This record gives sequence, structure tokens and C-alpha cells, in this order.
Amino acid sequence: SRSYNITLLPGDGIGPEVVSVAKDVLSVAGAKEGVELRFREMLMGGAALDAVGVPLPDETLAAARASDAILLGAIGGYKWDSNEKHLKPETGLLNIRAGLGVFANLRPATVLPQLVDASTLKKEVVEGVDIMVVRELTGGIYFGQPRGFGTNDKGEEIGFNTEIYSVSEIDRIARVAFEVARKRGGKLCSVDKANVLEASMLWRKRVTAIASEFPDVELSHMYVDNASMQLVWNPKQFDTIVTNNSYGDMLSDEASMITGSIGMLPSASVGESGPGLFEPIHGSAPDIAGQDKANPLATILSAAMLLKYGLGAENAAKRIETAVTETLDSGFRTGDIYSPGTTLVGCKRMGEEVLKALDSQK
Ligand code: NAD
Ligand code: IPM
Ligand code: MN
Repeated sequence: SRSYNITLLPGDGIGPEVVSVAKDVLSVAGAKEGVELRFREMLMGGAALDAVGVPLPDETLAAARASDAILLGAIGGYKWDSNEKHLKPETGLLNIRAGLGVFANLRPATVLPQLVDASTLKKEVVEGVDIMVVRELTGGIYFGQPRGFGTNDKGEEIGFNTEIYSVSEIDRIARVAFEVARKRGGKLCSVDKANVLEASMLWRKRVTAIASEFPDVELSHMYVDNASMQLVWNPKQFDTIVTNNSYGDMLSDEASMITGSIGMLPSASVGESGPGLFEPIHGSAPDIAGQDKANPLATILSAAMLLKYGLGAENAAKRIETAVTETLDSGFRTGDIYSPGTTLVGCKRMGEEVLKALDSQK
């Protein structure tokens, strides 16, 4: 039997609630396929700030690097919102992504038939939607220099950031996206703002150049403002989307509502080598933290992505996906995906139901 070391980073708010549930699911699904998982929990985000004064302790990054895969809950909260930048939970998150070199963030938005009624959009619009957003994760305006605060020539206070992409950064994320599109519906839409921004002009030029390596994939380009509109108007036109760090952040939250809830969307962040980082796309949801209300399915589905993309344990991943759809078939819903006629449950109970579904699998 194969054995792997998994770093758990529960983080803040609902993070510990959803990670605790997903850990049990991961364990059981792995065991059923002869994959033994050993877990080590480390400090990250606000929890790390409170305990040791930094959002990403050296030991956390070292443990993450030395492990086979990392499962992260969420970080952040009101308490740390006015901290200086280097003492923000969010800085810890950006630093672990950069530190692991996980430049490609896969965010699938799949409408499950059981949840068609959970979306605020019409059934005929969302039914059958299956989109993969490939978000560049370690570059762009999140990391560009120069950045900071200063004073302009009128003596007024300013804040500034730099949107910057190099050819190699664009080429490598484009190649990942073309590979992903090739294994899916064969269509890739690159989203940018090439009508205004130089970083986007280079983005479009390079994505177009890389397309010649993938003649079997149909490439299109769209401006980000239009893409935001098209996602709501006719989401079924999209197969795979590739975009920069910041547009990918926004478009994936928007895409999550097509599926019914942000509480459903998992993600996988991978680099050229080394362990992958797996996390739901949602945040720490301080408004519902500590109330056992969080939907754990985004984290449970991130655990499935960990098995599939992180450990190559496709069968174990499939078990989790099946257990999730079976749990939804049985009518269990957290508040964010509740509709009349279904059974309202909390975070823990939802986890128990997924475990039951796993247990009853052959
Ligand atoms: P959020 O995603 O935490 O919450 C937005 C809304 O969605 C809230 O109403 C919340 O209750 C709801 N929600 C989110 N996840 C849910 C779940 N699993 N089940 C049910 N409802 C859910 O975004 P926000 O409020 O803008 O940010 C809160 C904090 O989280 C901030 O500090 C932010 O920086 C941080 N954040 C962290 C991550 C991350 O760790 N990857 C991602 C996004 C935001
Ligand atoms: C996400 C989050 C993060 C991001 C924040 C918390 C830094 O919104 O994972 O989507 O913007 O990448
Ligand atoms: Mn986000």
C-alpha cells in the first residue's frame, strides 16, 4: 500500500471546521484504495499570527515543502484586517503559493444536476455547465513591483501596484491551460484586457503563439468585462478559461454562483515540481464561522483534487466525488445550497453523511 504525508493548514474562521470534515473523508477514501495518509497540522494565517506573530511561519512552509500535498481551509478575518501588509493572513497565503511555486490554479465550476435549483440563475441557463478556470497564481498585480504607498507631485497620498507578466510566466500557464482544455472539451478562452493594458497585450500575443503547439484546441480571446457578462448570460459557451491572477480570482467567484454556491467550488494549485496546494476558493466566512453552518463540500472536493492531481490516486478521488453526489441525492443540504423539500444540515452532519456514503461503497 502506498503512503503519503499530507500537511493540513486549517487557518481561520470556517477553515478549521471544513478541514476537519475533509480530513476524515480523505482518510477513509484513501484507505479504501490502499492509500495511507499521514496528517500533520501546521499554523497558517491569523491563527499563526496569534500564536507566533507571523502569517506563514518558516516551519509551516518547510513542512509543506517536505510533504506530498497540502490541504488548506481558509485564512483571514476582521481581527487582522487593519494589520500592516506583512502581518496580514492574506500575505501568508500569497507567500505559501509563491514559496511552493504553484503557478497554475485549477478552479472547476461544475453544475451538479442535484443543485440546479440552488443557483440564482434560471435552470435552462445553468443546467449542464462545466467550466474549468485556469488562474495564473504567482504573478501579475498580486506580486508586481513597484508597489506601495507614497506621495504624488501634488503632495497627495497614493497607493500603487504593478500588473506585470513575463513571457515565461505567460507561456507556462498557457501550456497548462491548453493541456487541460485538450483533455476536456477542446476549447480554450483566454480572458484579458488587451484593449487597454500592456501586460494583457503581451498575454494575448503569447497565448496565441503557444496555440500553435496545440492545433487540436480551439482558442478564442475575450475581454474581461465582456467575459463577466457572458458568464452570467450564457455560461454553457465556456469550456476552459485561462486568465491572470486577478481576473481569475474574480471570475471564479462569479462562476461559483452558477453552480449554486461558493461553498461548492474546490481548487488545485500546481507547479512544475513539488507538492500541490489544494483549497476551496471561498474565504474564512467570518459571518458564519463557529456556527457549524459552513458547506464543507468545496473542501471535500478539494481533497478529491488532492488525491487526483496531487497523488495520482484517481480511484480514491472518484470515490469522494461519488459520495458527494450520493449525499446530495439523499437530499442533504447546508444553508447556502438549501431549497424547499431538502434536508437542512450543518457542516459536521454533512461530513458524516459523505462518510456514510463512502462506507457503503464496495
Ligand atoms: P468569503 O468567501 O469568506 O465569504 C463570502 C460569503 O460567502 C459570505 O457570506 C460567507 O458566509 C459565504 N461563504 C463562503 N464560504 C462558504 C461556505 N463554505 N459555506 C457557506 N457559505 C460560505 O469572502 P469574504 O467575506 O470576502 O472574505 C472573508 C475573509 O476571507 C477575508 O479575510 C478574506 O481575505 C479571506 N479570504 C480568504 C481566502 C482563502 O483563504 N483562500 C479566500 C477568499 C477570502
Ligand atoms: C482566493 C482569495 C485570495 C486571492 C486572497 C485571500 C489573498 O481571494 O484564494 O481566491 O485573492 O487569491
Ligand atoms: Mn478569491
